Amino acid sequence: KNIAIFASGSGSNARKIMEYFAERNDVSVQIVISNRADAGVLKIAENFGVDSIVVQRRTFYESEDVLSVLNKYEISLIVLAGFLWLVPPYLVEAYQGRIVNIHPALLPKYGGKGMHGIHVHEAVKKANEKESGITIHFVNDHYDEGQIIFQARCQLSPSDAPEDIARKVLQLEHKHYPEIIDQLLHRF
Ligand code: GRF
Repeated sequence: KNIAIFASGSGSNARKIMEYFAERNDVSVQIVISNRADAGVLKIAENFGVDSIVVQRRTFYESEDVLSVLNKYEISLIVLAGFLWLVPPYLVEAYQGRIVNIHPALLPKYGGKGMHGIHVHEAVKKANEKESGITIHFVNDHYDEGQIIFQARCQLSPSDAPEDIARKVLQLEHKHYPEIIDQLLHRF
């Protein structure tokens, strides 16, 4: 089973996923796709010997070049790991039920356009939430609205700053995302 990871940032989730599947011969991360030429995830892909490409907005939204790349690598599952662009309809359609995303909060709260990175944790802090967590969900045509697959929670204390919340949540992401991906792949 082949995985494509879409990422825009440092790629800590992508690294955990590549580490998790590194020794497996039934599952392999085949390609990393980013929208940022300076994304840390590209270096991580190189370190793992995984191919990567950088897509321009026009190509991504106005051509199906990415779809032909995914077909070439015989991708079974698209994993979004800190990918900040909306997935275009042609991809959602072609990979219906086979695109997953991880969101650093307990959807449906604290989701939607613009709710990414530290902004999510600032909103959680501002609302004096007693807990936060992660949501892994299927991707559809709207930000953070697909069917929820898995959620995990962490307890917050009043003294937690947004950065502390981010750290607690990222630990949950790293722990659970690879396992949930592994379970999903056994369904296909
Ligand atoms: C994580 O916070 C994840 O929840 C969100 O984007 C961030 C990715 O971080 N989707 P990294 O690039 O994997 O470190």
